[in-house]
Amino acid sequence: MKSPLYSITALVLGALAQNATELASTCPEVLVFNSTNIASLVPCTLLNYRCGVQPEYSSPNGSDRIIWNATASGPPAAGCTPYSFQIEVDESINGSLSIPNITNVASAVFEGGPVEDLNLTSLALDDLVTIGGDFYFKLADNLASLSVPRLTSVGDLEFHLGGENPASIDLSFPSLVSAANGIILEGNIDSIDLPVLSSAFEVNITSTGKLDCVSLAKSVVDTLVPVGKSANNTVICNSPQGSVTTYKAAKPTSGSERSFRLRGDLKVLGAFLGLLIITSC
Ligand SMILES: *[C@@H]1O[C@H](CO)[C@@H](O)[C@H](O)[C@H]1NC(C)=O
Ligand SMILES: *[C@@H]1O[C@H](CO)[C@@H](O)[C@H](O)[C@H]1NC(C)=O
Ligand SMILES: *[C@@H]1O[C@H](CO)[C@@H](O)[C@H](O)[C@H]1NC(C)=O
Ligand SMILES: *[C@@H]1O[C@H](CO)[C@@H](O)[C@H](O)[C@H]1NC(C)=O
Ligand SMILES: *[C@@H]1O[C@H](CO)[C@@H](O)[C@H](O)[C@H]1NC(C)=O
Ligand SMILES: *[C@@H]1O[C@H](CO)[C@@H](O)[C@H](O)[C@H]1NC(C)=O
Ligand SMILES: *[C@@H]1O[C@H](CO)[C@@H](O)[C@H](O)[C@H]1NC(C)=O
Ligand SMILES: *[C@@H]1O[C@H](CO)[C@@H](O)[C@H](O)[C@H]1NC(C)=O
Ligand SMILES: *[C@@H]1O[C@H](CO)[C@@H](O)[C@H](O)[C@H]1NC(C)=O
Repeated sequence: MKSPLYSITALVLGALAQNATELASTCPEVLVFNSTNIASLVPCTLLNYRCGVQPEYSSPNGSDRIIWNATASGPPAAGCTPYSFQIEVDESINGSLSIPNITNVASAVFEGGPVEDLNLTSLALDDLVTIGGDFYFKLADNLASLSVPRLTSVGDLEFHLGGENPASIDLSFPSLVSAANGIILEGNIDSIDLPVLSSAFEVNITSTGKLDCVSLAKSVVDTLVPVGKSANNTVICNSPQGSVTTYKAAKPTSGSERSFRLRGDLKVLGAFLGLLIITSC
């Protein structure tokens, strides 16, 4: 059976005028998007594969990145996985950008230069599912809209959008299940939607906007599943509407006096919610 990736690749190739094989072999390690090169850089992520230790797929210069031969039929060989690039946007970007068809990247880093902030106002990565490492914004305070409807897992989610006069933004991660290393968000944030998040090392949110920290922290801590021995998924949220530090205590063990006390807490605060400190401003 053909994989969805193969189908999407075939469609893109069908629509592509240039020789896709040639195009893909010139892909740099970091894909820097601007308003005119999207169609030529997207195929990089669809045609490049990493084939691990299989010597027959290693390129002559020792790189384990190979170009899948577009004229050969069928999906790439077993053992090969799509090659992950870092994606960025060019500093000259002014306005909105939509980068479709990319499903998997090593990292997505959007950072303005030392002289000027990035003037990216809206970014759509509508097919993106996995970011292995950082999903990062800095010096990009004009960002007012972000669309990542399919994003399921990231390494770090780290947005620093709190400059002098940042645009207000509603952040929605409707499919995000895992942010292994944590979530750090700063900016003029009015709302954050994380309905299916179950794994995050830490969550630390700082908003100057209308964000309701109390209900956000409760909903996030309710869906987090403690990982590892330390089992302390701390959620910190500060906004003009209120400040919250909360974490989920380890599941109580039966029999001890401590677990009895915890059960009392559970009645009040809901399943596995260990401690809730609310200080209103
Ligand atoms: C595409 O480029 C490759 C490498 O340059 C070449 O071998 C191949 O014949 C080209 N295919 C077409 C359809 O032009
Ligand atoms: C976009 O980047 C490409 C290189 O990928 C460059 O050739 C082109 O001039 C750039 N276009 C703009 C408008 O900056
Ligand atoms: C994205 O894929 C669709 C087919 O699913 C294709 O029509 C479109 O040209 C592609 N766009 C880019 C920028 O690759
Ligand atoms: C090694 O080969 C790959 C794929 O053929 C190419 O993209 C890359 O630029 C090459 N690296 C060097 C250092 O020549
Ligand atoms: C691609 O595959 C076709 C068919 O298997 C083969 O004839 C062609 O030589 C290959 N091209 C490259 C550049 O490997
Ligand atoms: C950026 O876009 C805005 C709105 O479209 C426009 O007013 C402004 O002149 C643009 N700036 C540059 C440097 O092109
Ligand atoms: C940045 O974008 C905003 C909104 O489109 C526009 O008003 C402003 O002029 C832009 N700034 C630059 C330096 O292009
Ligand atoms: C939470 O984030 C804020 C702003 O980024 C930072 O100042 C603070 O030190 C962080 N708190 C913790 C416990 O990491
Ligand atoms: C969990 O983290 C909170 C906040 O950092 C801390 O106050 C608390 O002592 C920690 N609890 C455990 C069991 O590690």
